[in-house]
Amino acid sequence: MSEINKTHAQWSNRFAYILAATGAAVGLGNIWKFPYIMGENGGGAFVLVYLFCIAIVGIPVMIAEVYLGKSGRLSPMRAVAEVAKRYSASKAWKFAGAMGVVAGYLILSFYAVIAGWACAYILETAGGQFEQASAEQIKLSFNQLISSPASLIGWTSFMLIITAAVVAKGLQDGLEKCVRYMMPAMFVLLLVIAGYSASYGDFSQAVSFMFAPDFSKLTIHSVLEALGHSFFTLSLASGVMIMYGAYLPDNTSIVKTSIWIAIADTMVALLAGLAIFPIVFGNGLEPSAGPGLIFETLPLAFGQMPGGQFIGTVFFVMLVFAAFTSAIALIESSVAWLIEKKGFSRVAAAAFSGAGLWLLSLLTIFSFTGADWATVNVFSVDTNFFGVLDTLTSNVLLPLGGLLIAIFVGWVVKQEDLADELKLSSATFSTCVVLLKYVTPLIVFIVFLYLTGIFKF
Ligand code: TRP
Repeated sequence: MSEINKTHAQWSNRFAYILAATGAAVGLGNIWKFPYIMGENGGGAFVLVYLFCIAIVGIPVMIAEVYLGKSGRLSPMRAVAEVAKRYSASKAWKFAGAMGVVAGYLILSFYAVIAGWACAYILETAGGQFEQASAEQIKLSFNQLISSPASLIGWTSFMLIITAAVVAKGLQDGLEKCVRYMMPAMFVLLLVIAGYSASYGDFSQAVSFMFAPDFSKLTIHSVLEALGHSFFTLSLASGVMIMYGAYLPDNTSIVKTSIWIAIADTMVALLAGLAIFPIVFGNGLEPSAGPGLIFETLPLAFGQMPGGQFIGTVFFVMLVFAAFTSAIALIESSVAWLIEKKGFSRVAAAAFSGAGLWLLSLLTIFSFTGADWATVNVFSVDTNFFGVLDTLTSNVLLPLGGLLIAIFVGWVVKQEDLADELKLSSATFSTCVVLLKYVTPLIVFIVFLYLTGIFKF
């Protein structure tokens, strides 16, 4: 079979698969993005919509993707094409797989930049720069970092080079081991930091911000943001779950593992919120600070807590590892595609893909440094290339990709075949099919429709 089979470890067991898929799912999306978009979208009501999207849309789409991978046993585009052929459906379905590869590539172009910030913060925390620092000093040093093209390019290059290097080697053995230790360690550290926040920050205000929904703060954009983020955080519609599903051992339950991955991912995101917002409120910071949120809040806690220099350093190391296990999954689909379709060697494919990503990452880097040319106006909204990439992937490509996958598995795949694989009780199976066939497409469709303004409240 394909090259991927040689490089992506055939999961030795169910646990290895859960860890690898959780490693791909848990990343910057949980610890960096979720808290800041929750902050920008008013908290509780957004969290509720997000949880709803994970349960009603995210889990069924994940099941559909893993099913496609397992049933096609090929890389994303070819797996979808293979399954389509089986049911004499149009060959064009393979573009649903292709869209995922493109989305993954675009995501990594900004993901690597943010992971680079986390790298820089390892050194800054370890160097004691945040010891007893004030909120203003911390904000200043963050602004210094993101306005320096040289630092950003340096750190992004570092991140991309190690990502490409690991993938070039054929990965997994090292990665699997890494994930096995880093994921539980990260979880424990988040608990420690949340514990610190609870005792020193304004925990009750944070809890009410996150869990007492105020629906007046919810806009249709927040709903789209929550929907898009549920795809982003579960790594859906970006090729990886189809790819990882292709290596699923035969006797593994797709449904149970998908639910576990979604739960683990959601727990990490909520825990990150509980670690961050008490510090935000306790220090009078802005919850809607945007992408800089965790970089301006956590160092404050690290600078003040006993042993904070050490814990802070370890925290940013963990963040880099979490980002890294996602980055490798993100680059892999494009590398696999270059090998399969263009006949590249694995090393050449990784180098080529990495070089393209490096060039693309400049768009994000110069968005943050405030370069004039990186400022753009889209649909009369002033934004920058980072904003465009982020919106295009999370709010357009991922929901659209998820919609296509749900329709494909819901309508094209024969239900008996799906039932054979999922082995659910008939009531649960019917629910799952209804969610895929009607609910997911309808939700994505309606949200898009509202956005385009055809439909108004
Ligand atoms: N889920 C990742 C995170 O939350 C981001 C991501 C989106 C991803 N699509 C992916 C990671 C595909 C790996 C593969 O940080």
